[in-house]
Amino acid sequence: MGLFPPSKLGFLDKITAMTLPWYHKTTIYQIYPRSFYDSNADGIGDLQGIIQKLDYIHGLGFETMWISPFFASPQADLGYDVSGYTDVAPEYGTMADGLKLIEETHQRGMRIVFDMVMNHTSSEHPWFKESRASRDNPKADWYIWKDSPRPLLEEGSGVRAKPNNWQSLTGGSGWHFDRQRGQFYWASFLKFQPDLNYRNPEVKKTMFDIVRFWLAKGVDGFRLDIFNVIFKDAEFRANPFSFKLIPTDDDPSGFFQQAKYTLNQPEGFEFAEQFRQVCDEFGERLSLGEVSGNRQLIRKFLGGQKNDGLTLVFDFAMLNFKFTAGYFGELIQDIEATYPDPFMPVYVFSNHDRRRSMDRLGNDLRKARLLSMFQLTVRGVPCMYYGEEIGMTNSRLPFAAALDPIPHKFQFVPRFVFDMLGITINRDDVRTPMQWDESVNAGFSSAPQTWLPVYENYREVNVEVENKDRSSLLNTVRTLLNIRRDFQSLQEGSLELLKDLPHHILGYKRRLQNEMVCVLLNFGETQKTFPFSAEERLFHLTPADVHQENSARLGAYGGLILKLAS
Ligand code: NOJ
Repeated sequence: MGLFPPSKLGFLDKITAMTLPWYHKTTIYQIYPRSFYDSNADGIGDLQGIIQKLDYIHGLGFETMWISPFFASPQADLGYDVSGYTDVAPEYGTMADGLKLIEETHQRGMRIVFDMVMNHTSSEHPWFKESRASRDNPKADWYIWKDSPRPLLEEGSGVRAKPNNWQSLTGGSGWHFDRQRGQFYWASFLKFQPDLNYRNPEVKKTMFDIVRFWLAKGVDGFRLDIFNVIFKDAEFRANPFSFKLIPTDDDPSGFFQQAKYTLNQPEGFEFAEQFRQVCDEFGERLSLGEVSGNRQLIRKFLGGQKNDGLTLVFDFAMLNFKFTAGYFGELIQDIEATYPDPFMPVYVFSNHDRRRSMDRLGNDLRKARLLSMFQLTVRGVPCMYYGEEIGMTNSRLPFAAALDPIPHKFQFVPRFVFDMLGITINRDDVRTPMQWDESVNAGFSSAPQTWLPVYENYREVNVEVENKDRSSLLNTVRTLLNIRRDFQSLQEGSLELLKDLPHHILGYKRRLQNEMVCVLLNFGETQKTFPFSAEERLFHLTPADVHQENSARLGAYGGLILKLAS
């Protein structure tokens, strides 16, 4: 049991108090099911395991859970290669477990969001098996098939030119020749993940019916895998040259070409609106797009001025944050300008693909506490990756034994190159089992071996230990989530950046009608005192953070939440 009990407010009380739709004021906790909790001692986390840990998530105060895919899959990309969208992979449980998870989540007044991988299926999906079998079967046009424009060498050499110059998201051509059908198919990600053809109305209808299937079962929405990739140029025009080798979050050009015709196509923005309409058939449901590109461009997935597209999009540029007041001040300014009401930004600093934020923070818990304070008080939906609340950090597992397919694709590149670039290429490193306690396997599993090794620091970094420490990161997150629940201005109020604060101090005011709350954060290592008037102190991060009369004092990496007089 934690030191701070969950808010007494029930689900229905919250509904009556709402002004914004719930999905714009919620808090999200991402679960990677394979790594959360193993209920049947096979070394792999499962749905029953999540059910058994629901009280933990509820006790922390998170309102919504996003569960990474647990559908039928050969697991070549650990579930992001689906072979059955309405079946549960046996290692995660059964359909009954899935339905129970939805029910138990709702019983606690929480919401649950599944992960829809619509862009591609596994090459083991029966649709692809049928599609590749011939050029005239009923599913022949369900994937993106193209002829080779010409033999590359002389006729009969077997070496064929690719249909065009398009590069996949992971580098190298995304065109793969299928001998059975004698044509190339397109795969935006990896070879075994062929892209579906959404220009075929049957494909779109079938996928939307799958979405309806889950919504009818009570799922509260979806995180949408590589949503900006679903539509490619209808004419297959060649991507222009670029000098850029490595794609970045704000500019996905890379591997020496602009992704002009492979990402963020106008049809994709329309598709977002159509997807939203399907969700709306079931009331208020969340749709959170995984998209990449320039901020102005990705905002288009949210639809027109009324936000009639997806309800939320990730804005991954912030995953590369610099830990300075200046960086976060500019980030807020830019985000506020891009996602003004009725839009809502998402604040995210870690996920199952990227370096854990703790790693970026140099494993400094003081910084992690400050970052969580920022994330949980700024205007936006916070999305926290499992383990981030206790400060889990990157593991460092050997490439050769990786279960993640990505490092195998890049095995010819020496590891220090990725280290220098700050890229976590082996995503196993950020997917190690949740650290629950000091016991064997960090309390994650009682199997002799877990699917990935538990990270070595689990005796110091775990839920049980941090529950007992009032100033731990875990208790900080719990307290902040409770404060956020109690102050509606923090959930849905406007945000105004404060000016003329001392160097290293970031401050903003959150306001909803008469309720005004102010957040002050010290990104510096030295204590700062400055004039500041407020009515009451609601929270302090470090013992040195004080508000007295008309002045505020912030210790190193300190933070204050103050109530302002209305
Ligand atoms: C993005 C997902 O987050 C990642 O884990 C996955 O490998 C790719 N999309 C392909 O589905």
